[in-house]
Amino acid sequence: MPATVFVLDFGAQYSQLIARRVRELNVYCEIVPYDTPWKELAARNPQALILSGGPESTLVPDAPRMDPAIVQSGVPLLGICYGMQLIAGDAGGELVKLDRAEYGPAFVAVRRDNPLFAGVPSESRAWMSHGDSVVKLPPGFSEIASTERCKVAAMADDKRKIYGVQFHPEVAHTEIGRRILDNFVHGIAGIGSDWRMESFVERTIAEIRERVGSDKVICALSGGVDSAVAATLVSRAIGEQLTCIFVDHGLLRKNEAALVVEAFVEVLHLNVDAVDARERFLRRLDGVSDPEEKRIRIGHEFIAVFEEEAAKIPGVKYLVQGTLYPDVIESKTPASKAGHKIKSHHNVGGLPEEMSLELIEPLRALFKDEVRAVGKVLGLPERIVQRQPFPGPGLAVRIIGDVTDERLDLVREADAIVCEEIDAATLDPKPWQYFAVLTPVKSVGVMGDGRTYSNLVAVRAITSEDGMTADWARLPYPLMERISTRLVNEVPGINRVAYDITSKPPSTVEWE
Ligand code: XMP
Repeated sequence: MPATVFVLDFGAQYSQLIARRVRELNVYCEIVPYDTPWKELAARNPQALILSGGPESTLVPDAPRMDPAIVQSGVPLLGICYGMQLIAGDAGGELVKLDRAEYGPAFVAVRRDNPLFAGVPSESRAWMSHGDSVVKLPPGFSEIASTERCKVAAMADDKRKIYGVQFHPEVAHTEIGRRILDNFVHGIAGIGSDWRMESFVERTIAEIRERVGSDKVICALSGGVDSAVAATLVSRAIGEQLTCIFVDHGLLRKNEAALVVEAFVEVLHLNVDAVDARERFLRRLDGVSDPEEKRIRIGHEFIAVFEEEAAKIPGVKYLVQGTLYPDVIESKTPASKAGHKIKSHHNVGGLPEEMSLELIEPLRALFKDEVRAVGKVLGLPERIVQRQPFPGPGLAVRIIGDVTDERLDLVREADAIVCEEIDAATLDPKPWQYFAVLTPVKSVGVMGDGRTYSNLVAVRAITSEDGMTADWARLPYPLMERISTRLVNEVPGINRVAYDITSKPPSTVEWE
């Protein structure tokens, strides 16, 4: 069993970034809910624990708290932001609510003689995001960093190996962040760097094999890299016991259904049952324009189709889904009880209470690029591993307003042109995701000598590492021009094109 670090998740949007940074240090790391009992963690012999930040204040009476046995356990502990405040408050320190919260970059001065700051510059930029502050240290702790506005920016009890940092070492804006986590995990906790993605693959396959036994499993194939990797992992674990179900909900991209079935059957040799549910989904979406309602209806319908298909295969007990961490965190599921909900991601939200299948989500802790790395370890073809992400609810969340056959056709054709042009261009960096969105706006135009009154299509192309944050791609003007000209000329019903120049946050990647 590899040495494990657990992150206790208090609901920070970036909790998994902490886990990912630790994995980048070649140490296995997993997220657990903040209230996981120490007994449960102890059974897995953790070598270090990290408490995440969170959206709440420790000063309110029902603030999320951890099992007190965790601090007493003797396992090296690092609290980040909310996590540090919790340690400070519980150990007898004093906290206050700041008059004005501190967000963004700050210069942090550190005591380099502390092992947490070994090898870092004495002053550097760090990312702050807090409304409360520690003003009096608890007994046994010393102050090891400060910023102009925050006297206790980090604290340490070296004897008990308990540390706290008010700023966020997990985000890229904190220049010394990586080094701090390295110092904590390798230096203070003394963990070796022997974990690799191959270990994740082996371990996951073994876990699935043990959990499933001789039961039968079905898998939701969407065509994207996530479900392909999830299905392949499961098929390596249990072979013929897995049946993959591909639901054509009619919300797919151009030619996607045929491509998907071919790739999975012929290349990956998976056992695929393709279901044509196009009519059914369209009926469920009839007259629905609210984004959450769309997502929830699609999620429900998807599961309903699955359950019907599963019922045709005797003895099916499990359903595999390619849910990733960004889907989990932005949907506020039980694994992250304290997070704030952004949207109901399909695969996660909308599951009926009485679901009769148990879920297997082998990629739940991973980011997209980590999933691609797993795909490579599994030997999946490049064209599957490198596919751009596509949302579970498909084109429905790229049609603002009602989803009809006609509007689906329009956005599908528009999307194909956007993808074709961007795929053909040599771009550095290549956008992470790119697509067309059909807006509910109509505007006046002139084509030939006639007046038109038709649809505005928006083009979205983003750069991103993991879908959690994104920037709009600076596409070259000639490429934008080609896309725009082709859209208005080749797709009936479009007479105007806009380019989305918002980052995430404050926007999200998809429009709904
Ligand atoms: P947002 O719109 O939340 O998207 O900023 C972040 C990334 O997730 C994809 N996305 C989804 N993926 N089910 C998925 O599997 C969904 O319901 C879903 N909604 C968005 C989106 O395309 C982007 O890559």
